[in-house]
Order: sequence, then structure tokens, then C-alpha cells
Amino acid sequence: MSFSIERYKEESRKVDVTGIAWDEVASSPLSKGDLFCLHYMMDIENHVPLYLSHLLVTRACMDPILTAFLACWNYEELWHGENIGRLLNLYGIEFDTQDRIANVRANLGFQNSVSLMSTMAGSWLLKDFSAVYLTIGAINELSTLTGYGALIRKSGHPVLKDLLSRIIKDERRHYAFYYNSAKEWLTANERAQRIDRWMLNRVWVPVGQGVKTQEEVDALAIYLFDDEQGEEDLLELDAKIGKLPGLSGIKLMSKALYAARERVRRDPRWAWRLIDNEGWAIKPPKKSPVGQLTTRKLTEPQEATTS
Ligand SMILES: [Fe+2]
Ligand SMILES: [Fe+2]
Repeated sequence: MSFSIERYKEESRKVDVTGIAWDEVASSPLSKGDLFCLHYMMDIENHVPLYLSHLLVTRACMDPILTAFLACWNYEELWHGENIGRLLNLYGIEFDTQDRIANVRANLGFQNSVSLMSTMAGSWLLKDFSAVYLTIGAINELSTLTGYGALIRKSGHPVLKDLLSRIIKDERRHYAFYYNSAKEWLTANERAQRIDRWMLNRVWVPVGQGVKTQEEVDALAIYLFDDEQGEEDLLELDAKIGKLPGLSGIKLMSKALYAARERVRRDPRWAWRLIDNEGWAIKPPKKSPVGQLTTRKLTEPQEATTS
């Protein structure tokens, strides 16, 4: 698995959706579980600019190769969220994308600022912060593309399959960048390997957690991976990450699935109630209407003037 930043910079573009049969989106059904996962995935794709804001204040971003990657990566992820939203709208689920994104962000509240500052401080205190961040990047991209693969399998929806297969190609490139960069950092660096393993076992959470609640994360994991094929996919994912120097035998995604199973065993309604009750709707925040947060809704559209 090779990766060239120069080639990536040249070739980076928005996902090509030419020829996707958008007019056939509503012709095949999507289950409540499929819809739950699509809303989760769309929200997390759309959350990338805020995630980026956390990264740009860290020590890792002293590296110009990383910032070049992030500049292109951010743009590509934008179009993943846009296209998943488009598919949901065409399926007949009505929402205003900008309102939804603003509501997700507003619901994060103060916690977002605390998290940003602690990431920044942690990165400057920890010399090998980059090793941890790059490894987490690799896990996130690999679990994202594994999740898209599982949703293609679960839904059997032909248009969704076409769209997600195209998005998966982007995610593979992102994964290659992070994996190779993490490998480079960790090779022959025992201190970084120890810190990386220690941090992953303690602070790593599945992609989306923090923006989404534990129960929402569990609902996605249970719907996509709680069968033989799904469990195998996650064990394979862990094995791939375990090939990084110092991470042999590490269990992350499979451990998250087993923990989710345990919570469902204790309360059989756990996670499933979100799917059954169509819990993908994002409630507007109580105290911060979108207009106050963005100021957009408060200003009247102004006519273009010529000078
Ligand atoms: Fe993406
Ligand atoms: Fe990605």
C-alpha cells in the first residue's frame, strides 16, 4: 500500500458522481437500520471541518506534508457528506442540510471547546503526539470504509452501493496516508510505540463518538457488525492496525463491538430503540437557535448592488 503526497495533491478532487442513477434512489427500500446508519455517517462526514479545527492547533500540524494532506482531505470529505445527504433527500427524507449541520454543532456545546483546548495542550506536552494522532487517523479511515462496505451488504440498495463504492475509494487513499505516516513515525521508535499503545487502549473511541452518544455508536456497531461477517471484518481491521510497529495483537473495533453486545445483553432495548424509533432526527438546541449561532437566518437577503 503506497502513498505519494505529490500525486495525492495533483489528483485530489470531489467524488465523481457522474452516472449515478439518482432518479432510482426511491425505487428500492432502505430499512430503519440503513437510514439510521446513513444519518450517522452523513453527520460525521459533515463534522470533518470541526475535527480539522482540533487538529490544526496541535504539534502535528507543524508538518507541511500533513497540512497539505488535510487541505485536500477536508474537501473530499465535504462531498461525502453532501452526497449522502442528497441520497437521503431523494429517498424522501426532508431536512435542510445546513440546519442539520448547525444543529449537530450547536448540540456539542461547551464540550467542543474543552476538547479542542485539551487536544492542543496534550499535543504540545506529548512529543510523540503525531504517532497517536496518525494511528487514530488510520483506524478512523479504515473503520469508515469497513462501515460503508457493511452498509452496502446490509442494505442491498443498488444506488447506495454505487455511491458508497465511489466514496470508499477516497477513504482507502486517506487510510493509506495515515497508515504509512504512522508506520514511518513508529518504526524504530520504541518510546512512540509504547505511548501509542497506551493511549489507544485508554483514549481511543470509535469514529463519531463524542458527536454521537454511546448508545448511537452502539446502534451503528450492532446494526452493521453484529453477525459473523461483521465480526470477521472488525477482527481483520484490528489485525491490520496490529501490523503497525508496537501494536501487535491490539483489539479496538472488535472490543467496541463486544462492549456494545454486552450493553444490549443487559438491556435488550438498548440501541435498537434508537433504530426503531427513528432516532436519527437531530433536535434543534434549546438555547441556541441556528440563527443566533450563524447569524445567517437573522439577516435579510440583500440585493446585489453594482458600483
Ligand atoms: Fe468520508
Ligand atoms: Fe476519509
